[in-house]
Amino acid sequence: MTTSSLVNTVADLDAARVKMTGRVAVVMTMGALHDGHESLMRAARERADHLIVTIFVNPLQFGPNEDLDRYPRTLESDLEVCARAGADLVFAPSAREMYPDGPPQVRLNPGPLGEELEGASRPGFFHGVLTVVLKLLQLTRPDLTFFGEKDYQQLTLVTRMTRDLNVPVEVVGVPTVREPDGLALSSRNRYLSVPERTAALALSAGLRAGADTAAGGGSADQALAAAHARIEAEPGVDLDYLVLLAPDLGPAPAHGPARLLVAARVGTTRLIDNIPIELP
Ligand code: PAF
Repeated sequence: MTTSSLVNTVADLDAARVKMTGRVAVVMTMGALHDGHESLMRAARERADHLIVTIFVNPLQFGPNEDLDRYPRTLESDLEVCARAGADLVFAPSAREMYPDGPPQVRLNPGPLGEELEGASRPGFFHGVLTVVLKLLQLTRPDLTFFGEKDYQQLTLVTRMTRDLNVPVEVVGVPTVREPDGLALSSRNRYLSVPERTAALALSAGLRAGADTAAGGGSADQALAAAHARIEAEPGVDLDYLVLLAPDLGPAPAHGPARLLVAARVGTTRLIDNIPIELP
């Protein structure tokens, strides 16, 4: 296995980037890499000549009650994942390198969608995400960037930002990787105790119940009711939202492709998941 080069400064990133010819892809991460990240990297590797992975725990997207210091940092094993998945270059800057003048005064406004769903319970979250994503796009100058469908609202807003602001990059969504029992892979799963992990399975099972109801000819309301029933039968799950929307997260269509999204707290861990759904 060849290793990926590691750079920590913008100057070293730039020096490596100018040597890259052909198509360049970037996969942005906050580290604590798992098979879901690896599938993003493999998808990127298939379509590009060079792959840059960024590892940066972005302080801008943590709220005052969300523990930035508690976020897992596992650089050594992350570098192994990057090498295995064929990344040429890993950019892992410090907060000072990314924000030399302290927290940036100019931040991207994600618009109305940024205040809904995840944005409703995490004020400022998508301002922080889009600001760092745009900075990392400017620094890495990729042709393609790959985001997981697991964070579907993030994928939607990043796509929207690149369209609205004419950022010259193709945003590619990659399907969620799941454990054999359906649990969507997430860096946060490591916080779940064994009984909490069992309770968390209600999320993916509920989404599947909704999708199956629609596939069997059920209406949008029936699909949503089936998902609700499955999730609310699990006492260990404290539901935040369960919504059926259009694929671009606009109002749900009466027929055709839609997206079912869920967020819930299991113990002290907030989990999100979503699934594509076809309304008959
Ligand atoms: O999805 C993530 O890990 C983060 O939100 C991202 C896109 C790396 C920005 O910090």
